[in-house]
Amino acid sequence: MTDSQTAAERIAQLRSELDDHNYRYYVLDEPSVPDAEYDRLFRELKALETEHPELITPESPTQRVGSKALSAVLPRPNVAFAPVRHLIPMLSLDNAFDEQAMLEFDRRVREGLAEELPPGDLFGNGPEVEYSCELKLDGLAVSLLYENGFLVRGATRGDGSVGEDITANVRTVRSIPLRLRGDGWPASLEVRGEVYMPKVEFERLNAEAIAEGGKTFANPRNAAAGSIRQLDPSVTEMRRLSFFTYGVGFAEGDLPGTQLDRLALLRSWGFPLNRELKKAVGVQACLAYYQDIAIKRDELPYEIDGVVFKVNRIDFQLELGFRAREPRWAIAHKFPAREELTELLDVEFQVGRTGAVTPVARLKPVQVAGVTVSNATLHNMDEVARLGLMIGDTVIIRRAGDVIPQVMQVVAERRPDDARPVDIPTQCPVCGSQVERTQLVKRSKGKESVSEGAIYRCVGRLFCQAQLKQAIIHFVSRRAMDIDGLGDKIVEQLVDKGLVKSPADLYTLIYDQIIELEGFAEVSTRNLLGSIANSRKPSLARFVFALGIPDVGEETAKLLARSLGKLDRIQEALPEVLTYLPDVGAEVAYEIHNFFEDEHNCKVIAELRDPQHGVLLQDEGDVSAELAACATLDGMLVKLNITSIGPTSARKLVAKLDSLDKIIAADGIDLRQVLSSKQADAVREFFKVEANRKLAREIEAQLLEFGMHWNSARKSVEGLPLAGQTWVLTGTLERMSRDIAKARLESLGAKVSNSVSTKTHCVVAGESAGSKLAKAHELNVAVMDEEQLVKLLADHGIGA
Ligand code: IVH
Repeated sequence: MTDSQTAAERIAQLRSELDDHNYRYYVLDEPSVPDAEYDRLFRELKALETEHPELITPESPTQRVGSKALSAVLPRPNVAFAPVRHLIPMLSLDNAFDEQAMLEFDRRVREGLAEELPPGDLFGNGPEVEYSCELKLDGLAVSLLYENGFLVRGATRGDGSVGEDITANVRTVRSIPLRLRGDGWPASLEVRGEVYMPKVEFERLNAEAIAEGGKTFANPRNAAAGSIRQLDPSVTEMRRLSFFTYGVGFAEGDLPGTQLDRLALLRSWGFPLNRELKKAVGVQACLAYYQDIAIKRDELPYEIDGVVFKVNRIDFQLELGFRAREPRWAIAHKFPAREELTELLDVEFQVGRTGAVTPVARLKPVQVAGVTVSNATLHNMDEVARLGLMIGDTVIIRRAGDVIPQVMQVVAERRPDDARPVDIPTQCPVCGSQVERTQLVKRSKGKESVSEGAIYRCVGRLFCQAQLKQAIIHFVSRRAMDIDGLGDKIVEQLVDKGLVKSPADLYTLIYDQIIELEGFAEVSTRNLLGSIANSRKPSLARFVFALGIPDVGEETAKLLARSLGKLDRIQEALPEVLTYLPDVGAEVAYEIHNFFEDEHNCKVIAELRDPQHGVLLQDEGDVSAELAACATLDGMLVKLNITSIGPTSARKLVAKLDSLDKIIAADGIDLRQVLSSKQADAVREFFKVEANRKLAREIEAQLLEFGMHWNSARKSVEGLPLAGQTWVLTGTLERMSRDIAKARLESLGAKVSNSVSTKTHCVVAGESAGSKLAKAHELNVAVMDEEQLVKLLADHGIGA
């Protein structure tokens, strides 16, 4: 028995420690231990309880979701929710939508308390009332009943008189105490508050639903309500709901005389209070609180739809009493709503820079959060399908913060009989060219597989006025060709008047054409011609960025320029060769390749560079040393995606057969000397296919043409400055990604490893480096910062 006694003691100690940590985390907002420590204590308790099931109690932190062992003690999983009659009705709040309504509320309160309040001063300033200022959380109201300090029942508000028993579900909400802390609590205490879903949780839940093709929730309130009414409490638990308390419903015995003192007492018993809670004296202070919170609204980790003001003194509350179902002593000062219902009048299609045809909702204008909304983004046709949207539908529109309004949901019950489906046009609404669904091309295991993408594209390219305008706007932008004085409106005029049909036409514009444009006079015309002329000498990187290749941003453009050195090489590069570049994946590689396969694109590029248009790239040069060093034969074998051939087997193969020709010619016996028979067969099968041989030879030819030597990895490393050294990268680098830093170090012959040991030559420590840096100090390994790395690379001719 002594054994069991010590177990009982340890269990009690663990429970109290876990409760303490919970209290610090949820109520005091000051986590005391890392999550890992909490989890360790939790696991220890769980293990002890498994060993001693007789010691399990419903209040144990392990028992938030009822376990089998306890089904007799704990509420059973819900079959349906039993009705609960509230001891005291759960009321609602009157709303104020503007300052005027707030001033009237305060006036009514002061009138109602005329006999209680001291007289006003000689200047006619009335006495001021003290209010408790609270957030109006956008969740759902719950009532929590504690008997002798234990949570015995949780209920929804329902119709205010009768709610639903959701005990098993509220128990899963970690910030709701199962057992009260401290002492002095009434034997019977009913606490009220709001269960809500934090914004991050809401976004995670919806993202998951989208990924699984399921239904999303329109807002965190619906998500919270849907989660608390789950029949299976373990589902509720996974939704990570939270709770803030805002008052007492019923209490046996006396409580403090003000709302704020009562809330403070509830906090000491373990209930989380919102940290924005404040006291205000007089209505002006209330209005200031409202403004304060309005500014903070977007930064709060949960949704609120307003603030609540309550007369602080309870005796005053009793004096004021109720009107119908609302207290005269409280009011909700609401923020403009973020969601509204409106009608989907039509879906139009917009054409973007890269030809993507995207659906845009045209809505019956509606005020949302203080702004008239008549359009909303629909992203792509997959989203239209997911929403099940039809023209004529009533939809929920949401506009949060500065984000573009979004269609959240269709109100299915309101679909009219004449609702029409949303069809993607077969022809571009701007230029009439064909619209095609994008295909995702993947080459894997020597085969090409094609799947349908979510994007539709107009094939009109620069013949399409919409694409042309966007392409020119991008081409002239500051980070691209940087043509000053060529704003969007001017580009539109140039395109509409037919003066510019491709970026090349910018360089043949003449004075007489420009001065004709709206808003141009002599000086501005000369200035524009000047900036066009000045843009004729871009760097290769700027030029590549300016071309507007889908998925090629500034960084990728710089990388292409630095690695391949010449525009011709970038134009000709095979997708497989492009994927040798760090950070270029197969999809981006295909986009780049496809862009340059397009005849019209090549024609525009050729025109730009001909003497008449005169664009001269400033800094063309050689293939970079880093690319040359990582373009190895074994690397190529890996890129060919031959079944069961990974980096290790490719390296073994190349060590034995050091040219593509030898590998192609090799028979099973040769191959099996270094590969398993399965791998050997795969290599033979692969190169039996004519198209595969051709592709491999093309890649090889291209790499050689780009000035790379085909020696195996080891040979090319010998003689490099960092050959034989192992480096480690840690922390965040500012000037280059870790991938790039790695590729650069490797191009100098270094091996880049993940862990620090006595064999490590040097550790590069970026921002907020942690344990690896500590380890380096401990082992006396050399450390350098990013600046020193950049300098080292520069000393070896590798620029940032
Ligand atoms: S007090 C008698 N305080 O608003 C007063 N309610 O329209 C009853 N709510 O159902 C409520 N935050 O879900 C109060 N700080 C707060 C609140 C709050 C949100 C909700 C609650 C209630 C509704 C009243």
